[in-house]
Parts: sequence; structure tokens; C-alpha cells
Amino acid sequence: MKTTMKRTLQGAVMGLGLLGAMACAHAASITISCGSVGQDYEFCKKHTDEWAKKTGHTVKLFTSPSSTTDILGLFRQMFAAQSADLDVVMVDVVWPGVIKDHLVDLKKYSKGAEALHFPAIVGNNTIDGKLLAMPWFTDAGLLFYRKDLVEKYGMKAPKTWDELATVAKKIQDGERAAGAADFQGFVFQAKAYEGLTCDAVEWLAAFDGGSIVDAKGDITINNPNAVKALKTAASWVGTIAPTGVLNYGEEDARGVFQNGKAAFMRNWPYAWSLGNGADSPIKGKIGVSALPSAMAGGKGGAALGGWQLAVSKYSKNVDAAADLVMFLTSSNMQKERAIKGSYNPTVRSLYLDKEVLAANPFYGDLHSVFTNASPRPATVTGLKYPEVSQAFWNATHEVLSGKATAEDSLKRLDGRLKQIKRTGW
Ligand code: GLC
Repeated sequence: MKTTMKRTLQGAVMGLGLLGAMACAHAASITISCGSVGQDYEFCKKHTDEWAKKTGHTVKLFTSPSSTTDILGLFRQMFAAQSADLDVVMVDVVWPGVIKDHLVDLKKYSKGAEALHFPAIVGNNTIDGKLLAMPWFTDAGLLFYRKDLVEKYGMKAPKTWDELATVAKKIQDGERAAGAADFQGFVFQAKAYEGLTCDAVEWLAAFDGGSIVDAKGDITINNPNAVKALKTAASWVGTIAPTGVLNYGEEDARGVFQNGKAAFMRNWPYAWSLGNGADSPIKGKIGVSALPSAMAGGKGGAALGGWQLAVSKYSKNVDAAADLVMFLTSSNMQKERAIKGSYNPTVRSLYLDKEVLAANPFYGDLHSVFTNASPRPATVTGLKYPEVSQAFWNATHEVLSGKATAEDSLKRLDGRLKQIKRTGW
């Protein structure tokens, strides 16, 4: 009897040792790039820690630049070198066609979970039947404003760009006269990078100036409405907006607005949660609306943004990396990010979730802004999208900084885009 027990115990101990060794052999170290804007890092740290604890794997956070343009440049270098340094990468909504050859098909790992997300985003992430990235959060450009100041000056939240210019000027003049010498009417993103393409796509949409390249692949940017759109935006620089906007990204604009130094800001939803954070000087004073239209009763434009998570083909731990992607993009994680960080979920049912809506009242009011946001012409231009966008933001930056007229700049851009297109996209 005793001997049997001893043997059983010995067997159990050996078995445990073997299990431990197996777990060790399979414990992977995953490196993820998950953003450095707003609360990106904090959420990524918290959620990857939760996954590591659950699975026994470890996770390292790769510090990425804050500009999407710089992140893409870096990833492309790493992919070209087939580097195994990154396992999980964040993917901007305009990139699937650009980096498709370097990503793992996630179909085998998702087990159909993509059906919970917006079909348009899943479609955007699916190329040649391969699910190259899981949707993580979606973005649409919004107008943030100081409710208290609009009221103080007896004005109403603007519906058109002209009204915005008037209200912004009135508040700016008033606040400056009252001693806030550096107070600004309006801040947005006008640095020469992808963010400017987004802002300018919104102006084009409001002025009915097309989408640079249309869905058929025709270059449409050289048109009178696009000229009007860029002229209008150029008129803000140095009047209601500081000339510094020519070098602003999202976080620069948020810094000014959140410090109480601007009446209006164009930004993405993440700015809501931070602006209402416990330590924010403008907590409780922020209004959110759709971006203005060109004319009363017209449509405002919102650019469609957003991020996905994907696994690099050069990862040495594809299975673990894919498991992490599925964990981070799950409904539970997206719910927490929406409530505590105002990251718009891609899981459709979360827009009916009471806690999510209570934390982000504008999700309900602006639902149509999110569902009708204007995509950049990334699908139709495929691999050439980064060049198209760069040519567009440079042309726009020239107009905003007064180096060229809108007419000349868009005419030149038309020629440049034809060169990029050559025989096709
Ligand atoms: C946001 C959007 C992304 C866009 C970027 C531009 O991160 O989600 O799609 O490219 O802003 O700065």
C-alpha cells in the first residue's frame, strides 16, 4: 500500500515537473507596438499584463512614435528586414493595402469573432480572403468646444465653418482682452503628415470637393470646391488659429485645448475622456459636435480613422501573438477602453451598452457621424496610398502656410498624382 502511494506521489511530482518544463518551453515573450498617443500606453500596459498573467507568457511594449506617418516608416523598415523584433503591430485603417504582405492571416485564430465587429472595418482588413488584422477601435473627426465660453459670449455652437470663424474670433478677442494673451479660437492638425490629410479630407467633404481620388481611381482633386475648402482653411491660420498649427499633431492641439487655451478643437474621440479627466482644467466644460458644414443645412465631413491589431509574419511566436490580438480586441477589453478612455469600439453591440453610452453621451447623438465618416482613398490606391497622401498633405500645407495659392497648389498636385498613378494604382 505504502509503496503504491509513494510511486503515485513520485509520478505526480514528475508529471508536475514535466508540465512546468513544457509551460516554460512554450512561454513566449511577445513584443507589441500599441501606440503612444493619449492613454494608449497605459491601457496597453494594463491589458497586456492581464493577458500575461492569464497565459504565463510575457509581453514587452515597444515605444512607437506618436505620428502614424512615422510609425509606418518604421514598420516598413522592419518588415523589409524581416525583423522578428515585433510580434504584434497596430495597423492604421489606411494601411492594410500597404503592409498586407507582412501580416499573418488571423482567420484560424479568430474563430469567427470578427462577426461581432462593423462589417465595413472587417472588410477593410480582409484582402484576398485573408483576415489580416482585427479591428481594435474606430475614429471619426469631431469638433470639441468650450460650452462655458460659447455661453459666456452669448453665442451658439457653430454649424457652418463661417459661424465657427465668427464665434472663435469673438471668444478669442474677449479672452485676450481679459488677459489671456495666448488664447486661441481654434486648434487643429496642420503639420505635414497623415493627420493633415485627415483634417483636409474633412474640409473637402464639407465643401463637396470630392475625396482626392474617387472610388473608380480617377484623380478628382483639382476642382473649384476643393479650392474653396483649402482657401477657407488657410484663412484661419494666423487669425483664429495660431501659425503654430502648421506644426501641430493631435497631441499638440489637445495640449492647448485641455489647458484651457482654446475655444474650439478638431480631434478624435480619445480627447473626450482626457479632457474630462480628474486633473483636467476644462473638466465638465466640453461640448462635442459634428464638424461644421460649408453652408447652413449642409453636411459636415468627418474623416474615418481607426486602428487594428495584427501579427507580423516574421514573428517567432505567431500562435501566442495571435492569442494576444484576440484578447486585446475582444468585447470586454473594448468596453473598458470605451468607458475609461473614450476609444470608439468596433464591436457593434457596445454602442447599445448603457455604461459605454453614459461615459460617452456623444456616441448616441453623433452615431450618424461615425457611420458616415469619409474614408481616405486608401483602398483604391493600395500600395501607393502613402505617396498619394504625402503629395496631398504637402500641397495642403503649402496653401495653409501661404507659400502657394490653392489654385496653383491643387493644379500641381493633380500633375503629381498623375505621375504617381502612371498606368494605374
Ligand atoms: C488617428 C486615426 C488614424 C489617422 C491618424 C492621423 O490616429 O485613427 O486613422 O491616420 O489619426 O494622425
